[in-house]
Amino acid sequence: MRILFTNRKDLLGLKDMTADEINYILNSAQTMKYVLGQKSKKTPHLSGKSIVTLFYENSTRTRVSFELASKYMSANVANVSVASSSVQKGENLIDTAITIDKMGTDIIVIRHPQSGAPHLISKYVKATVVNAGDGMNEHPTQALLDLFTIKEKKGKIEGLKVAIIGDIEHSRVARSNIYGLTKLGAEVAVGGPATLMPKHIEKLGVKVYPSIQEALIDADVIINLRIQLERQKAGLIPSLREYSRFFGLDEKRLIFAKPDALILHPGPVNRGVEITSGVKECEQSFIDEQVTNGVAVRMAILYLYTKGGAGIENIN
Ligand code: CP
Repeated sequence: MRILFTNRKDLLGLKDMTADEINYILNSAQTMKYVLGQKSKKTPHLSGKSIVTLFYENSTRTRVSFELASKYMSANVANVSVASSSVQKGENLIDTAITIDKMGTDIIVIRHPQSGAPHLISKYVKATVVNAGDGMNEHPTQALLDLFTIKEKKGKIEGLKVAIIGDIEHSRVARSNIYGLTKLGAEVAVGGPATLMPKHIEKLGVKVYPSIQEALIDADVIINLRIQLERQKAGLIPSLREYSRFFGLDEKRLIFAKPDALILHPGPVNRGVEITSGVKECEQSFIDEQVTNGVAVRMAILYLYTKGGAGIENIN
């Protein structure tokens, strides 16, 4: 039986996704993780498909994992480096996207510093658009890999307490995770400096705490956020040393969470700022496994969206 995944052309964010759609991707990623564990990771499932990554911001994990996911599944993949593309000659975003689309591209994976950039180009291109991070809005594939990691380690998401701590204001990872976790029935607590806490964030269904310690109490999962130095407006935190002292995740703060709490971080990590090296390397930390799971989740996304909604059960 073929079960319909979705009628949507694009993956723009978790805000508009249903719990069923999220669960479908998570289940499909389980199959992909099995494929990743094999000696030969090559599958023919995207043979003849073309994927282009278009990144206007730096990236290691997201860009490389989309590229490898495409290659593992036999797709043609091209990476547009904005620094050496015709963007430098003045070509605008829409014209760049249309140009890539006209080359027969099936999926455009885009990261852009402006919120809404993927939504904008999706109106002009036939290709599926996958949001790989837009400004301070969403980073849906990161949240999906976080949800996958939580479900893999805890066996469920519903009923868990998840503490998201740090720079919530600038974090597209936090927003996508809040949408995804609340849709799947988790209790979400957010904690961090008042200057880095968005106004009215409680309207998204989360509990807001002024200190990291209070947010961490009895947490099953901790999502520790990167201090986004590139997005900080002057004066939001006194100094990195102060931030680390009052809001960093260290051994003393970790004891407020449950003893078996998972520690996650989207990366890249500023060691010694938002997290100590000791906590990053401890046995509760699954930060490195998140990276592996990112490839599995992105394989599932590329497969599901190029199949036009067909079920993953047909993969074997
Ligand atoms: N988590 C994340 O988006 O990492 P990159 O910036 O390295 O892609």
